[in-house]
Amino acid sequence: MNDRIEELLAKLDLAGKMRLISGASMFRMAGDPAIGLADMPVSDGPSGVRGELWDERDPSVSLPSGTALAATWDRELLGEIGALIAAQARRKNVYAVLGPTVNLHRSPMGGRHFECFSEDPMLTAEIAEAYVRAVQAHGVSACPKHYVANDSETDRFTVDVRADDRTLRELYLYPFERSVAAGAWMVMAAYNSVDGVTMTENPLLAEPLKGSWGFDGVVVSDWTAVRSTEGAAAGTDLCMPGPPMLWGEPLEQAVRSGRVPESAIDEKVRRILRFAMRVGALDGTPRAVPEFDDERARELVRRAAADAMVLVRNEGILPLDIGNAAPGARDSASPAEKSGPTIALLGPGAAEPRFMGGGSATVIPAHTTSPLEGLSAVLPVVHTPGVRLSDALTPVPLELITDPETGTPGLSLRYLNGDTVIDTQHRAAGNLVLFGDPAAAEATEIELRTRLRADVAGDWRIGVGAMGRVRLEIDGDLADSGELVMTGGDPVAALLDPPQRTVLRPLSAGQEVDIRITIGNLTPLPGLGVFLGVTFGATRPRRPAAEEFAAAVEAARTSDVAVVVVGTTEQIESEGIDRTTLRLPGRQDELVAAVAAVNPRTVVVVNSGAPVEMPWRNEVAAVLLSWFPGQEFGAALADVLTGVREPGGRLPTTWPVRMDDVPVLRTTPDEDGALVYREGVHIGYRAWLRAGVRPAYPFGHGLGYTEWESSDLTVTGRVASLTVRNIGARAGKHVVQAYLSRADSAIDRPVRWLAAFATLTLEPGEARRVDIALPRRAFEHWTAEGWMIEPGTFTVRVGNSVDDLPLTADVA
Ligand code: BGC
Repeated sequence: MNDRIEELLAKLDLAGKMRLISGASMFRMAGDPAIGLADMPVSDGPSGVRGELWDERDPSVSLPSGTALAATWDRELLGEIGALIAAQARRKNVYAVLGPTVNLHRSPMGGRHFECFSEDPMLTAEIAEAYVRAVQAHGVSACPKHYVANDSETDRFTVDVRADDRTLRELYLYPFERSVAAGAWMVMAAYNSVDGVTMTENPLLAEPLKGSWGFDGVVVSDWTAVRSTEGAAAGTDLCMPGPPMLWGEPLEQAVRSGRVPESAIDEKVRRILRFAMRVGALDGTPRAVPEFDDERARELVRRAAADAMVLVRNEGILPLDIGNAAPGARDSASPAEKSGPTIALLGPGAAEPRFMGGGSATVIPAHTTSPLEGLSAVLPVVHTPGVRLSDALTPVPLELITDPETGTPGLSLRYLNGDTVIDTQHRAAGNLVLFGDPAAAEATEIELRTRLRADVAGDWRIGVGAMGRVRLEIDGDLADSGELVMTGGDPVAALLDPPQRTVLRPLSAGQEVDIRITIGNLTPLPGLGVFLGVTFGATRPRRPAAEEFAAAVEAARTSDVAVVVVGTTEQIESEGIDRTTLRLPGRQDELVAAVAAVNPRTVVVVNSGAPVEMPWRNEVAAVLLSWFPGQEFGAALADVLTGVREPGGRLPTTWPVRMDDVPVLRTTPDEDGALVYREGVHIGYRAWLRAGVRPAYPFGHGLGYTEWESSDLTVTGRVASLTVRNIGARAGKHVVQAYLSRADSAIDRPVRWLAAFATLTLEPGEARRVDIALPRRAFEHWTAEGWMIEPGTFTVRVGNSVDDLPLTADVA
């Protein structure tokens, strides 16, 4: 490989090298036909492969998000997920998938908490390793991100994280170390600084990444994270997106004038060529990937979502007793014919859940199944949300709009330049993310036209989200106009959740109106053209809030079981922002309390990517955490509630009683821009144990539908062995967790820390002897001299969560 790389490098002049080390476009690495190198598209991301464009005409499978994947504690399942990701990537001609996100849950306030795996470095590393191996086994590159200490979002482009070496090595660097050991071909350098140096130029790229870890792949900048021309001499190899502003032409000048050595550029090109050979972009063909038809993909995502759900409380209600009809067999029966308990399905997430978190991890699935759709397929369901979370516009449902050009559901989009129509497109979504479309490069104005059909009478909220000069016409009359400008400083956040203008319009049932929206005064990005999120929203009339609330409580009172789906919103849990509270938005807490007061058989499903306060948790019969479970949410939820599958998840992160209890909370930098990781190695459960405060539910906790017994722990060398027995009545999954602790240590240590775990499924009555290898690293701590083991005796405790560890043994 190396000879071939040198041979190709010798064929490139400086300009040719410059082209390879910067993006060709937003999500594309440049090829070079003269040396047989194909263009290499890359794509987000961690929970599905969106592809180069953000376009409903080319949909993607939406997978469970990071916290959900980690909650499975299941490396084998990650192997299957990785194969699906690789298959999706190949279908979209993508060579590198920008994931997994392996930053840590330092604080539950972190806006991308949902995307990261865990508060624990060992669990994060195990899941990351499985992901990287599985994706790359099929010749598609993974890209663990964001190196390093991008653990929160506030001031994410500029924040300077201060952390000591030991904290970095033992916690934040560890998942990257393991991903590199697993063979990662690409790593993404973060936006933030660490100890005063921006990560795309930080010495941590040289050591440990490219030095002692031996990383020989490509360091790609996070998008726009390259901060200077001269900084190219440091460790970033690929500047994204393209076309570049600080590399490219200015960098070529810097090399010619001797300010940046050409040898530094050659080193980047070598890495990119090596990468290209690995992914089959250099006079070869990409490796074959597994076939995943739609049905197989849906089955896997549905199973994974159920396997990720964590049942934190169950007072004997789950699985629901649904009589003797086989669950799933009644899909075709009408609601009236369905037997089983009647369900009042309530909460804002019942019909409009969050399948995924917001930001660059977003994908556009071809279909989704809401809890309402999933549950009504198997049980008699009555539904009303009870609470609405905001008056913000939501994209108009497709079934209500008709494209006047095609006569099919959707709208007609035109790119205009003055009177010239550059392009006309049929679009089948109320929410469009416009960039990278060559047709848009010269556009000065965007026009959307559709025919809206009101299916119920009342005051409809109609409007548009965008940035620029907006005009809204209804039936040819100007209904609203004005300038919409970016709020907040994060362009990605503004792209996905642009500012809005709305009007109220009374419409009768069945009435149809012509809608025309124009957006002018566009601010194209240099080299990229139009970069704009557009929402056309039409929200159905709503009952007064008090009436709606009362209707939900009444439905709960008159049903056998109440299922309330609560959660966070795109506005509070997303990339680009941190949370300001852990309370559920709106009147959701009140709704759960009121429902529980009238129906003791209340099950609450929490649809969030990160912990929320659950003040009612001891008043309800069951609490099930669904995370952001991907497109098959409803089907998976129906499986779990009716007992077709058990909820297989265990908490990858601690759930607090209240925000004020959280030992490491703040993500706001000091006045000088520094975010100091003062707590050192004590984050997550380590911090809770040190503070002596009890959370609502501890790390590792999760009830399945069976019971377990563990016994006879022995330790030989570094292998812990124990007997695990399923003493319940049905097959189930168990996650055996092994933690280490150290009495009388000379070192500041956590009370205990996760060393290893084993995930197994046993039949009722079945027993198995389980061996858990305790990795050397679990005993080591970082010092100025490197990794050390403090001589003496460690204690290993084994059990079901960090707070439930009945078996103990010593390790010398
Ligand atoms: C995010 C990355 C993402 C990139 C490209 C950035 O804003 O931080 O995680 O891969 O955008 O979408």
